[in-house]
Amino acid sequence: MTAMLAAPDLDDLLPPGLLDFLPCATPDAWVDWALANPELLLIDHAQCEKKAAATAMSLLHRYVDQPLLLSRMCQLAREELLHFEQVIKLMEARGIVYRHIGASRYAEGLRRHVRGEEPHRLVDILLVGALIEARSCERFARLIPHLDAELAKFYRGLVKSEGRHYEDYLMLARQLAPEALDTRLAFFAEREAELITMPDTAFRFHSGVPA
Ligand SMILES: [Fe+2]
Ligand SMILES: [Fe+2]
Repeated sequence: MTAMLAAPDLDDLLPPGLLDFLPCATPDAWVDWALANPELLLIDHAQCEKKAAATAMSLLHRYVDQPLLLSRMCQLAREELLHFEQVIKLMEARGIVYRHIGASRYAEGLRRHVRGEEPHRLVDILLVGALIEARSCERFARLIPHLDAELAKFYRGLVKSEGRHYEDYLMLARQLAPEALDTRLAFFAEREAELITMPDTAFRFHSGVPA
């Protein structure tokens, strides 16, 4: 099975600028790995949606003095929880048992570089959020041509919302950063590319390539 999606199709699905924002494309080897692990794909996908909601909720708790952030994160948390509910329903319909699995190194590999002091902490969290959402969006789009009709339709809808989440995180980072973002964004983009292109031992939604 080929893991290629023609560039124009991918471009049509994704928000403008998203592919340029990401430091590299998802390797074909990851797409093949995902297609060989349909159950793990959905279980880890469910985990990712739940964690995305939790991240938004933690921002709601910490940054109560930022009205724009509060309104965007309320919407984001609701949508991620809805996605979570949709994934677990889909798993149930397919007889996939939801169980705990370890997280990939991806999100932690980015978050460990978040600076401790404000306002840098918030800026870094927002940039990491933008990268994670953009990568998720790109991966859903890459998978769509290879999926059954039901899952393809579901993922097509997710591409739209995760694309919006990427835009929201990036917009908030730009609005709330006290200085230009370029250097910090380049730093996180470099880390992200390492996590995406380096070999990984276990398949996950955000893992690298098979070791
Ligand atoms: Fe989501
Ligand atoms: Fe999202």
